[in-house]
Amino acid sequence: MESLREVLEQNKKKNVAVGHFNISDLVTLHAIFDTARELKYPVLIGVSEGERKMVGVKQAAALVRSLRDEFGYPIFLNADHTESLEHVREAAQAGFDEVMFDGSKLPFEQNAKQTKQAVEIAKSINPKVVVEGEIGYIGSSSGIVEKRPEASLKYTEPAEAVQFVKETGVDVLAPAVGNMHGMMRDMIAGEAHKRLDIARIGKIKEAVGTFMTLHGGSGTADEDFVAAIKHGMNIVHVNTELRLAWRRGVEQGLKDNPNEVAPYKILPAAYQKIAEVVRNRLKLFNS
Ligand code: G3H
Ligand code: ZN
Repeated sequence: MESLREVLEQNKKKNVAVGHFNISDLVTLHAIFDTARELKYPVLIGVSEGERKMVGVKQAAALVRSLRDEFGYPIFLNADHTESLEHVREAAQAGFDEVMFDGSKLPFEQNAKQTKQAVEIAKSINPKVVVEGEIGYIGSSSGIVEKRPEASLKYTEPAEAVQFVKETGVDVLAPAVGNMHGMMRDMIAGEAHKRLDIARIGKIKEAVGTFMTLHGGSGTADEDFVAAIKHGMNIVHVNTELRLAWRRGVEQGLKDNPNEVAPYKILPAAYQKIAEVVRNRLKLFNS
């Protein structure tokens, strides 16, 4: 079975990206996994600190490992937006394939210092673990956002990206290039889309040469996803779109089954809607 790093290398040669989808329940995990299997694309599952509280750190690792082992399938797990070194240690010890340390709220120097420590801690536990760091603030909520955070309008400069990668030793860099966590109402309605600075992505990639992640994928214009991957994005994160699909599916399931109390009879509607989003996104990221 290939490792996440090997999948990233293989994908790089093919000019495609790994789809990263967040979960906080089993319905979402199964919808993602079944869809990835149906399409035969590797997939990365993310659990943020809040999502880990819901699922459990060791439990998330056990769930993903059991799918990987039972089906011999390249499904991987990322400790998404980990904000403390203690949680980096916990995720690496639990066997996560990737740890994403998020010091993006800190001033640059402190972010670089803590991210370097995160790399050292994670790799001392598992030398094969992939470690990601983030520069530039892109907002924190995978939800409905009323207004774009002011700080997300400051994009990453190639020179600071080089400095960050050199100082920290991260395997993967998450820059701010027009992306943002969450969706504004016009994006939910499909009337507007996030637009990315494609030229900047190309320049940062050329300067750093490492793998790169595009965070805040929900609501991005399809052509920008494709161009961003072509210009150097190796992992693409989508969360809010799945959460919206989950909510709409649950509402539908309750409406269609007013007297039902069995979750497994109500939740298939959520499964279907989530699978639809994942199918659409995975096809795009792997095209
Ligand atoms: O780490 C998670 C992602 O960056 C998700 O962002 O909710 O805008 O898709 P999103
Ligand atoms: Zn993110």
